[in-house]
Amino acid sequence: MRRLLAGNWKMNGLRASLAEIRALNRGLAETPPRADILVCPPATLIAEAAKAVEGGPVAIGGQDCHALASGAFTGDISAEMLRDAGATAVILGHSERRLYHAEADSLIAAKVKAAHRAGLTAILCVGESETQRKQGRAGEVVADQLEACVPVDIAVSELVVAYEPIWAIGTGKTPRTPEIAQMHEAVRTLLTARFGAHGAEIRILYGGSVKPGNAAEILSVPNVDGALIGGASIKAADFLAIIRAAPGH
Ligand code: PGA
Repeated sequence: MRRLLAGNWKMNGLRASLAEIRALNRGLAETPPRADILVCPPATLIAEAAKAVEGGPVAIGGQDCHALASGAFTGDISAEMLRDAGATAVILGHSERRLYHAEADSLIAAKVKAAHRAGLTAILCVGESETQRKQGRAGEVVADQLEACVPVDIAVSELVVAYEPIWAIGTGKTPRTPEIAQMHEAVRTLLTARFGAHGAEIRILYGGSVKPGNAAEILSVPNVDGALIGGASIKAADFLAIIRAAPGH
């Protein structure tokens, strides 16, 4: 399966940061990547970023969207608007949205539907907290999130799942390789139970402190079909180093 390496800039980046996206695009144009490459900058930069990478190997995505297409929702952005600005994907249900915006699974499921309605790939984030892991509940938490956030009538080709243990995000800590393997296998099993053979085609990304130094090891784990990268995706040099570290590159 072709890997997906997706960068999540979060609330970072002014127009000057478009230079990093241009540098990434240029770097990859010289040696075309064996993986799909996506950058999700803040919404203010999507349209310009999409223009900057046009025709190149980098795709642009959003970090969240509203469940509805339009309406009286001050400050919100719809999936259709992201698409119109040039995005082809959107991150949904990130733990920071769940925590700081109290996003519940049912809302996230509606957003996944919205992404599909607009023709965007939905990158659905799931993952346990440190306490839940210590309680031995990581598998159960992720299973519940998947069950509740994936709508029944979803097109498998437009769904990506990102397993992101919350305690690994922005902390420099990562699970041990066998722990990643175990969680990804569990996610794969749930997806195939739900979608049959098609469940095997859904990419499962790992996210949480992926860096140039650990990318090769993490990306070699079975059922790790790519990565969702925060801090290390903002500088083109770091993101390029991660892309080049991917096995088979
Ligand atoms: P990080 O963030 O790579 O900075 O840990 C990952 C994420 O939140 O998607």
